[in-house]
Amino acid sequence: MKETLKLGVLASGRGSNLQALIDAAYFEEIGAEIMVVISDNPDAKALERARNADIPAVCIECKKYRTKLTPDIEKTYVETLKSYNVDLVVLAGFMRVLHDPFLKAFPGRIINIHPSLLPAFPGLNAQKQALEYGVKYSGCTVHFVDRTVDGGKIIKQRVVPVLPCDTEELLSARILDEEHKLLPEAVEYLRNHYFTEETGER
Ligand code: GRF
Repeated sequence: MKETLKLGVLASGRGSNLQALIDAAYFEEIGAEIMVVISDNPDAKALERARNADIPAVCIECKKYRTKLTPDIEKTYVETLKSYNVDLVVLAGFMRVLHDPFLKAFPGRIINIHPSLLPAFPGLNAQKQALEYGVKYSGCTVHFVDRTVDGGKIIKQRVVPVLPCDTEELLSARILDEEHKLLPEAVEYLRNHYFTEETGER
């Protein structure tokens, strides 16, 4: 039996992907435990979802910037995650770019979910970008986080056909359904193929 993976989840908003992980862990579809949920947004529904599931929910705001964290605040994120002994950091709709000290604190142990088939359409509004480009297939990607925006090594993807009648909302909803399957699948995949049995080390 592989060890249970200890997860730290970072989320800025709605938290439906967090919920997918909470449910998958509860129903033992994944061998993982969510140790802590951290948000940069005090109003994030993700925090409420964590509290409802009796998971420690921590808000660490950064009022100075909108899309990044100050070094001090980033340090607080790292210390908080370390204090919960997490093996894997999952960015589930976390709207801030991470810098080297954070990345180096969890080498090869930070993953993100993105609503497109990367490397196509990185960044914001990926579903709108896909529609505007006119692709016939889009989807979602779970990838390792590195210094690039949505550019790290791909772990798993799911394909979603783009329909002629699609709007951004319709396509986003169908992609989101697949995200909710993909993220737990990727966590379980990493547990089985990436971390060793005894220690959880890579
Ligand atoms: C998802 O579409 C995810 O791919 C992107 O941000 C969105 C977060 O949604 N990174 P939710 O907060 O998990 O509902």
